[in-house]
Amino acid sequence: MRTTAQDRIPGDLSREQVIERILRVDQAGELGAVRIYQGQMAVLGKGKSAPLLKRMAAQDQTHLETFNRLISQRRVRPTALSPLWHVAGFVLGAGTALLGEKAAMACTVAVEETIDEHYARQAEQLGDDEADLRATIETFRAEEIEHRDIGLAHGAEQAPGYPVLSAAIKTGCRLAIWLSERV
Ligand SMILES: [Fe+2]
Ligand SMILES: [Fe+2]
Repeated sequence: MRTTAQDRIPGDLSREQVIERILRVDQAGELGAVRIYQGQMAVLGKGKSAPLLKRMAAQDQTHLETFNRLISQRRVRPTALSPLWHVAGFVLGAGTALLGEKAAMACTVAVEETIDEHYARQAEQLGDDEADLRATIETFRAEEIEHRDIGLAHGAEQAPGYPVLSAAIKTGCRLAIWLSERV
């Protein structure tokens, strides 16, 4: 049986610290995701992409509720940056939506590509002693990949300035991940 953080060397995080970081950052990330969709819906709520946005938002809402439950069950302190992600998520969603539906989809693709890598890395860190959490993360990861594919199927790559927009959003997401694991 492989256990969580079993290959750690002196100076690495303990098993408890690894799990705390995972739950803290994932709760923060799903909060950000829900807020991005709320921002997009505020602008595009009557557009043709509204049903898609609604569907993705509902899935991320379920992810958020799961992590809300897990952080309270396991007594993990949520990130102190929640108020920031609350605002930044909405601004990112509304801002990209104002650039058009394709830019909103480009935002989804950039975020989900980052989250796909992030959840894959977490699943790798978790051992058989955390099989349930690992399975939850794998399930959510599969849904994020679906969201990415929805974005790609709806013109994300045709958004004006796609490479720059995508790179900027990914950098922002990675910074948000780094911070939310620690703060
Ligand atoms: Fe999600
Ligand atoms: Fe998502």
